[in-house]
Amino acid sequence: MDIKDHIRQIPDFPKPGINFYDISTLLAHPDAWQVSMGRLAKKVAAWQPDVLAGIESRGFLVAAPLALKLGMGFVMVRKPNKLPGDVKSHTYDLEYGSDTVEIQADAVQPGQRVVICDDLLATGGTALAAINLFREAGAEVVGVASIIELSFLEGRKRLDVPFDALITYD
Ligand code: PRP
Ligand code: MG
Repeated sequence: MDIKDHIRQIPDFPKPGINFYDISTLLAHPDAWQVSMGRLAKKVAAWQPDVLAGIESRGFLVAAPLALKLGMGFVMVRKPNKLPGDVKSHTYDLEYGSDTVEIQADAVQPGQRVVICDDLLATGGTALAAINLFREAGAEVVGVASIIELSFLEGRKRLDVPFDALITYD
């Protein structure tokens, strides 16, 4: 099965000139969804993680089913002020302004092996922020996995951990 057959491209969203790679059509197709999570689970398992992290919001749709499949815990990386209790934050620079990602303070233990999951790697800025957040929390990031890689944006070059994706657009 070619997973690309189940990804819808929507031109000029969210801005003119941007092509949006929509996983909704994949999620809505039970076989394609099952096959894609099976293939990604094999890649992720090879890194022998202790826990899987998903980046809000579409990353939750990847990390949660993979964690269930692999019998592992799942950690939410969230946008600011969404998580209750003690949190750890990482703020990073954007072209204009800055952004923050957070996890709960007890979400990972020092030395735990974490794989970060998302639907898509574009510039890599979101994944890099999550890597730095887990490192600051004392965890070891052993890989980043996504369904889609936009290789022309060269996001993987910004990551100093193994990266793998199911499908790539050049
Ligand atoms: C999208 C996508 C990735 C990120 C990739 O998320 O789901 O998380 O952008 O971009 P980058 O590699 O350039 O950082 P978005 O911020 O649109 O939010 P969402 O997942 O909540 O829809
Ligand atoms: Mg996202």
